[in-house]
Amino acid sequence: MKQIIVGNWKMNGLSADADALVDGLAAQLAALSPRADVVVCPPFTQLARLAPKLKQAGIKLGAQDCHKDKSGAHTGDISAPMLVDLGVEYVILGHSERRAEHHELDETVREKTVAAMAAGLTPIVCVGENDDQRSAGDSQATVGWQIEGSLPQGFRGIVAYEPIWAIGTGQAASQQDIADMAAFIRAELVRQFGDAGKTMQILYGGSVNERNVTDILPVEHVDGALVGNASLKADAFVPLVRAARAS
Ligand code: 13P
Repeated sequence: MKQIIVGNWKMNGLSADADALVDGLAAQLAALSPRADVVVCPPFTQLARLAPKLKQAGIKLGAQDCHKDKSGAHTGDISAPMLVDLGVEYVILGHSERRAEHHELDETVREKTVAAMAAGLTPIVCVGENDDQRSAGDSQATVGWQIEGSLPQGFRGIVAYEPIWAIGTGQAASQQDIADMAAFIRAELVRQFGDAGKTMQILYGGSVNERNVTDILPVEHVDGALVGNASLKADAFVPLVRAARAS
């Protein structure tokens, strides 16, 4: 199956940088055909501006969060239908930075996932253990609970395994750790969702870069990558797309 490379820009990108990055991606990706699916998730402020350029380049647009309600008195929040209105197709939910900084619980993530699916977005739901949980040997138990709590009944979307200790450290999880966790997640998805769980895409995220991507993407049950830092420069991101399965 085709793999998918998702760039999570996080809170980065003023208009000039964002334009330059997308122009660079468009130019370099045009030479890659066939290629893996590519999604970029800029901050909310850039979505409307970048949508036409990205569409022209065959790059899908994603957002980094959405509210659980369609509309209403929620100052500062953005709903899933508002994202669809701008041409957004994917939304990252339950990222560890949101779980930590905005106190999002599995239940919060589950409600947002329901809202995203109802609006027609493909949710990319993030799970992953922290350093303490890993040291205690609780990685799989933690991720198992997160999957059970964060994914609603009838879930259709993508699951991203992002071990917190690997994010932004330059040190990705080892091939063995990724293989073990991806197999565990696959088994959990099949247990919860039956046949549909067999084909749900599982991504790895956490310090993916040009040097380690060729170890990560071939791992069984890994269907792509969720990329932070290396998604902010076309020269760093395009090699990841090149390394991904194109069919
Ligand atoms: P880095 O690739 O910068 O480690 O970030 C990973 C991530 O959090 C993507 O969502």
